[in-house]
Amino acid sequence: MKWDHLIKNGKIVTPEATYGAHVYIKGGKIAAISQELLEGEAKKTTDAEGLHILPGLIDTHVHSRDGGSTYKEDFFHSTKAAAAGGITTIFEMPNTNPPVNNAENFQAQLENLSAKAHVDFGMWGICLGDLNIGDLEDLNDAGVIGFKYFWGYAVDKNNYRLIYDYKEGMEDVIPPSDDGGVYRMMEAVAKTGKTFAIHAENSDLINHLTNEMKETGKSDYATVLAGRPSLAEEMTIQAGIAMAKQTGTRLHVLHVSSKEGTEAIKLAQEQGYPITAETCPHYLFLTNEDYETIGPSMKVYPLVKYQEDQDRLWQGIEDGTFSLVCSDHAPHTQEEKQGDLWSVPAGMCGVESLAPLMLNAVSEGRISLQQVAALLSENPAKQFGVYPQKGSLQPGSDADFTIVDMDKQMTIKRENLHSKSKVTAYDGFQIKGVPVATIVRGTTVMKDGEILTGPVGTLVKPL
Ligand code: NCD
Repeated sequence: MKWDHLIKNGKIVTPEATYGAHVYIKGGKIAAISQELLEGEAKKTTDAEGLHILPGLIDTHVHSRDGGSTYKEDFFHSTKAAAAGGITTIFEMPNTNPPVNNAENFQAQLENLSAKAHVDFGMWGICLGDLNIGDLEDLNDAGVIGFKYFWGYAVDKNNYRLIYDYKEGMEDVIPPSDDGGVYRMMEAVAKTGKTFAIHAENSDLINHLTNEMKETGKSDYATVLAGRPSLAEEMTIQAGIAMAKQTGTRLHVLHVSSKEGTEAIKLAQEQGYPITAETCPHYLFLTNEDYETIGPSMKVYPLVKYQEDQDRLWQGIEDGTFSLVCSDHAPHTQEEKQGDLWSVPAGMCGVESLAPLMLNAVSEGRISLQQVAALLSENPAKQFGVYPQKGSLQPGSDADFTIVDMDKQMTIKRENLHSKSKVTAYDGFQIKGVPVATIVRGTTVMKDGEILTGPVGTLVKPL
């Protein structure tokens, strides 16, 4: 047989164009994409009449909690959820126990994840200030996608959990780095040529304001938001940009939530600095007003903000300030997410709803399918150095595809999620535009919502 799989009559979607063509797969790679049917038999043929075929979608921001907090989520479940939601590659966050803080732990984590991966995966490395500044070069050589820094967070010395509300004098805690420490980390990352990706919220400001707000005795969303305002994001982004200008580091701002943050990034980009940024569905589809109906499930850090922030984020998608959209999949258990808004942990499931929500935005006319191919595939692949292995529909690229049915409708239901945790802000959301097949290096991992295989995913490293 000449071809392993022929997917015929579909509509190919790239950031540049949409056109009818047939896809030929051989040996896990794209063998040809042709508007004419080619000679030769295929072992398997799929008719994609009426469907759109996108380059495999990538979620660059996933916390699978494996190892460490596997009672909340693990890599088996998060990658199953990814496959169910049309994602062919995820980039796994390094705040695990042990963390991905040196080459040895990178290898151990790679072994741990490989046996459980339903989709391909890249791995972030973590920056822990003085504790691992000397390990970053080796970690880079091991193959990390980039380096993550939880700016302003302290870290528990025993289990490497993030501590959001660090207070001086806490025991067994790695305190947040001071600005000089961050500057030195950025210098070290600049030498690797990789990205320094920041969680951008100023902890001094947050601690001060949060203490004041807690004293009011109130715990409604507006009060909690007043303790963790947009200013915190803007201040850290500004500091990051200033240091990136000095050090030449490729700065990537994670999960941008505010108008002010977006504007600071846009300005630095216009000045020609290599600053990139992402935002997430919760900031694009929710506002403070949704808290009344959704409740603490929607608590994430940074917090979801106001309508004017959401409007500016959409503008940032349109004007290219944001190169990508990702989920910040950060599950906690249902029990943990119940209670006082001050104390419930931040984060929720997202990897399975990322693509459906973005496709629904296409159906609503907010963006185009070609923009989805850019924001969820080609742009992240290029930015993190895995293009054209990933994010591309050229012959020779990995045969990763997300096939979508833009006429299909569904309702997101918490009980249907494939994650261990079922915490989502989108329970009951009506979606038009659904991923109906997830193909990873030629293997159909999901079809019509059913997971068809066990773990087939492998590591992807920057080229
Ligand atoms: C993240 C998590 O729980 O890992 N939570 C979140 O709300 N985004 C960590 C973080 O980025 O704060």
